[in-house]
Amino acid sequence: MTLDLTVADAAAKPAKKTLPDAQTVTSVRHWTDSLFSFRVTRPASLRFRSGEFVMIGLPDDNGKPILRAYSIASPNWDDELEFYSIKVQDGPLTSRLQHIRPGDQIILRPKPVGTLVLDALLPGKRMWFLATGTGIAPFASLMRDPETYERYEQVVMMHTCRTADELTYGRELVENLRHDPLLAELYGDDFANRLLYYPTTTRETTDRMGRITDNFTTGKVFADLGLPPISAQTDRAMICGSLAFNIDVKAVLEGFGLREGANSDPREFVVEKAFVGDGV
Ligand SMILES: Cc1cc2nc3c(=O)[nH]c(=O)nc-3n(C[C@H](O)[C@H](O)[C@H](O)COP(=O)(O)OP(=O)(O)OC[C@H]3O[C@@H](n4cnc5c(N)ncnc54)[C@H](O)[C@@H]3O)c2cc1C
Ligand SMILES: NC(=O)c1ccc[n+]([C@@H]2O[C@H](COP(=O)([O-])OP(=O)(O)OC[C@H]3O[C@@H](n4cnc5c(N)ncnc54)[C@H](OP(=O)(O)O)[C@@H]3O)[C@@H](O)[C@H]2O)c1
Repeated sequence: MTLDLTVADAAAKPAKKTLPDAQTVTSVRHWTDSLFSFRVTRPASLRFRSGEFVMIGLPDDNGKPILRAYSIASPNWDDELEFYSIKVQDGPLTSRLQHIRPGDQIILRPKPVGTLVLDALLPGKRMWFLATGTGIAPFASLMRDPETYERYEQVVMMHTCRTADELTYGRELVENLRHDPLLAELYGDDFANRLLYYPTTTRETTDRMGRITDNFTTGKVFADLGLPPISAQTDRAMICGSLAFNIDVKAVLEGFGLREGANSDPREFVVEKAFVGDGV
């Protein structure tokens, strides 16, 4: 079960001192004991490319900012900014951030950067978004950006977590996209075939299981979705997970003949870490 808080809940809260680069929290949703998402006001001057990240944070007890990298999960046309976050119980930032409520302020440095942008890839036919855990955040932005579907005929979102409840944020987002009026107007009934969703678990038994790497090397994902194997002529990919995941997926994609690209040197796939370290 999820817990939603919106600005209305904040009406009785006293006004707080304004932080530098402050933005106001407009809603918070807790998905599991270790995952939550929240939305904040967007600085009028902030322009970003879907898939980029910014530094956000809160002040510590002495007023010094604790800042961390966060992928913007909302698309670049959205009036607000959305973030999808882990809760690390002894983490300097998220031990505090997990308690934010609508009306609170966070620090947001308005300098977006990142490698998971459409411009870092050569044109192709099919785009694979490959994520574990909170690594789905940049793809939550890119999946909601019509430009993704203008550039690619088909998008496949593969998201893997240990348990089914950890998939809920992504699952709900994809379901909402299937009813999105803008995408429905552009693609109609064809949209179901434009965005394919392939969630799997690895530790809880569900209908679809397995690591992304295994589902590629056994060919299971291609058989399940009725797609040809990945080829450098048609397929492009973006990877976002732990360091170990990124290294292993990169090797699998290179095995299919794809090469890593960058903003300055577009090729067939790009990689970004979902976090630094071994995991919570
Ligand atoms: C480019 C980039 C983009 C990022 N985007 C996001 C995002 O969209 N959402 C998000 O929740 N985090 C994201 N992170 C991680 C984020 O910057 C922080 O590490 C996280 O918010 C925890 O902060 P902390 O101060 O509480 O703990 P930290 O001291 O930063 O981390 C403590 C430990 O927790 C583990 N950890 C940290 N973040 C995660 C995570 N997301 N999933 C699993 N384990 C983790 C690591 O082992 C880390 O060593 C991103 C990191 C990078 C480098
Ligand atoms: N999430 C939890 O419930 C939980 C509970 C206790 C402790 N932890 C600790 O928290 C850390 C982070 O946990 P997490 O679940 O968020 O992230 P994670 O360990 O990176 O796992 C997320 C998903 O990615 C898969 N994966 C991990 N490494 C991979 C690789 N090299 N190639 C392909 N797939 C890979 C995992 O499959 P596998 O399941 O096959 O590894 C899992 O489905 C871990 O180090 C863990 O020790 C997490």
